[in-house]
Amino acid sequence: MSEQEVKNLEQMFQARIDNDEKIEPKDWMPEKYRKTHIRQISQHAHSEVVGMLPEGNWITRAPSLRRKVALLAKIQDEGGHGLYLYSAAETLGISRDELIAQLHSGEAKYSSIFNYPAVTWADMGTIGWLVDGAAIMNQVALMGTSYGPYSRAMVRICKEESFHQRQGYEILLTLCNGTPEQKAMAQDSINRWWWPSLMMFGPRDADSPNTEQSVKWKLKRKTNDELRQAFVDQTVPQANILGLTIPDPKLKWNEERKHYDFGEIDWEEFWQVVKGHGPCNKQRLSDRINAHEKGQWVRDAAMAYAEKQANKEEKQAI
Ligand SMILES: [Fe+2]
Ligand SMILES: [Fe+2]
Repeated sequence: MSEQEVKNLEQMFQARIDNDEKIEPKDWMPEKYRKTHIRQISQHAHSEVVGMLPEGNWITRAPSLRRKVALLAKIQDEGGHGLYLYSAAETLGISRDELIAQLHSGEAKYSSIFNYPAVTWADMGTIGWLVDGAAIMNQVALMGTSYGPYSRAMVRICKEESFHQRQGYEILLTLCNGTPEQKAMAQDSINRWWWPSLMMFGPRDADSPNTEQSVKWKLKRKTNDELRQAFVDQTVPQANILGLTIPDPKLKWNEERKHYDFGEIDWEEFWQVVKGHGPCNKQRLSDRINAHEKGQWVRDAAMAYAEKQANKEEKQAI
């Protein structure tokens, strides 16, 4: 293909996106679009699956049967989100095995938030409220993204995320209306998770070099800073209802901007965790690899069954 032909195709491609059409797996797409989407969708899939680990640890310690059922359902949803997203990434011409290998080798990233430890039951509430809450902010915007399979996966994921957020908030509401010790446990949890939650939106716009291209492809419909602001604005009134204090002395309503002003993220900590030096990076990765290896027999059994069925059908066809 000549350079001019590629340019024409790229222009037509961009015109479709500008026109709010979805790009489907068999459509022509620029190589950079394909690569960026494989990276982003698989990163998202890995985050869902690694995200099961901090909460999985609390299933056996949930304080009641009802809490256990809800937590179990939530964690299973996250596994399901991982599956839709791996499937969406596979439509771009990469295999599941390659994606998993990239995660296990440390080549692929996942959301840094899951490299923080969940040390008390209140953390189950805070993760649902803040972490799933921040994820929803990102994911609602992604429902309008240009790549069809990714956009459609988001519709279902967002519905489930909103259940996750509510179950988390309800755990905190119960603790905050409980004994002083329970309320203190909730406060301690917010103190530890607030800043890492704000970090989930990524670097400041000024330090985010891919933003412009991603906005063009509707892979980003709002910038990191816009989403972070929307999250703070939405979350502060919810903290007030709980009677909890957000650990930021600079947090203040700005009447002129009609938004909350807030303090600066510790960017040094942000980059340390991204680079693999967070409190639980090593543990999460080794737990994930371990779970994958332990599940090998399930995959083998599923393959053997599929083969058996295929043989049966073949025989019947003869
Ligand atoms: Fe999820
Ligand atoms: Fe979730």
